Amino acid sequence: MRSTLAFILIFATLFAVISNQRISIPLKIDDKQQLFFTVKYGEKQCQVDLIPAINFCSNAIIEPSQVADQCESLYIGENNFAKSRDYSAKFQLGNVQASLQFSVPNGSQSMFYGASELCFGFQNYAEQQNTLIELFQSGQLTEERFYVGLNNTSTASATVGYLDIGAANESQIKKGSNLVTLLGSTGESQYSANSNRNLNYGSYKLQGGSIVFFSLDSLFTQLSIFAFQDILSAFSQQGVQYTYLPDQDYVVYLPSIELLDNITLGLVAQDSSAYSVPLTSQQYTKLLSNGQYQLLILPEFYTNSITLGYPVFQSYYVGFDLPHRQILIAEFFEA
Ligand SMILES: *[C@@H]1O[C@H](CO)[C@@H](O)[C@H](O)[C@H]1NC(C)=O
Ligand SMILES: *[C@@H]1O[C@H](CO)[C@@H](O)[C@H](O)[C@H]1NC(C)=O
Ligand SMILES: *[C@@H]1O[C@H](CO)[C@@H](O)[C@H](O)[C@H]1NC(C)=O
Ligand SMILES: *[C@@H]1O[C@H](CO)[C@@H](O)[C@H](O)[C@H]1NC(C)=O
Ligand SMILES: *[C@@H]1O[C@H](CO)[C@@H](O)[C@H](O)[C@H]1NC(C)=O
Repeated sequence: MRSTLAFILIFATLFAVISNQRISIPLKIDDKQQLFFTVKYGEKQCQVDLIPAINFCSNAIIEPSQVADQCESLYIGENNFAKSRDYSAKFQLGNVQASLQFSVPNGSQSMFYGASELCFGFQNYAEQQNTLIELFQSGQLTEERFYVGLNNTSTASATVGYLDIGAANESQIKKGSNLVTLLGSTGESQYSANSNRNLNYGSYKLQGGSIVFFSLDSLFTQLSIFAFQDILSAFSQQGVQYTYLPDQDYVVYLPSIELLDNITLGLVAQDSSAYSVPLTSQQYTKLLSNGQYQLLILPEFYTNSITLGYPVFQSYYVGFDLPHRQILIAEFFEA
């Protein structure tokens, strides 16, 4: 009897430790192709869809006008910096309950107007509420990091992957692969990596930028207008048919993606070695309901940066380390 009790106690303690290190929240994609997750918050446990934000952000929830006082959250006070009202509430994040502060934007005068998000990005001002920092301060995380991996980016409303907060889920990493820390790009206001400017489409060399961002909010990869034009001329040389509509947001349609090559980007690891990331044609195109494909690449003007759209998380499990302002990367497990 006593040993059973002891066993239960040890088990419960172990379980508490393990589950405290990682909070896993299922990610979904809405019909606007935005990644989001669902949480419950406040005494009323209201359900709300939030975006995982890594740009300039704060925990923010738009006023649900039908529910009195933010689902019975605790009012903290006015936030004159963000022009918002601040609250504190219990949130149900995956299987974990956590107390978080959030802002309710005070209409269009707030810099977070329209945002419904939990913030995992850099904290430039103390008035910005940050989920990683708050979970760490309340002892629910041992590290201010989070990881993202996606199974499939075409299944709207189903679970497409997880936001693993605090620690990696090792079984999301491909056997034989390890998390590699990438060299951070200093002076940026969001998580970034360095590129060695080795950007290729098949055997064609493209003009690349030197700063790389990972997007959690767009399917589209953004390359310089020069790289974009070089890809289109490579298509022509390869006999790949396409329709380019520069006047309609630079959209490119393709009847088939059979002949397409990978786009390969060279990143720089912390030890200065190169870390090559291929984007397959399935990841940089999207099948439309009319049977055509759309190119998921947008040209960027006057910039030295590359932004990888979230389909890259289908082949890579990517970590974001807040205190070190660094990105970690490993091959995603193969389903
Ligand atoms: C919010 O808006 C109201 C009405 O416009 C104003 O009285 C109040 O001072 C504003 N609060 C903040 C924090 O900006
Ligand atoms: C993703 O899901 C869609 C729809 O269920 C399916 O057609 C497609 O093959 C899946 N892709 C991958 C890579 O599993
Ligand atoms: C991803 O796919 C694998 C294999 O099909 C499955 O075991 C896993 O649960 C899926 N994960 C998500 C988040 O859907
Ligand atoms: C860890 O990842 C594996 C593989 O995707 C998944 O089946 C499992 O549910 C994940 N564990 C948690 C706690 O999310
Ligand atoms: C494209 O990249 C994928 C994923 O790394 C790889 O399996 C495939 O062989 C590559 N294709 C070519 C033509 O290099």
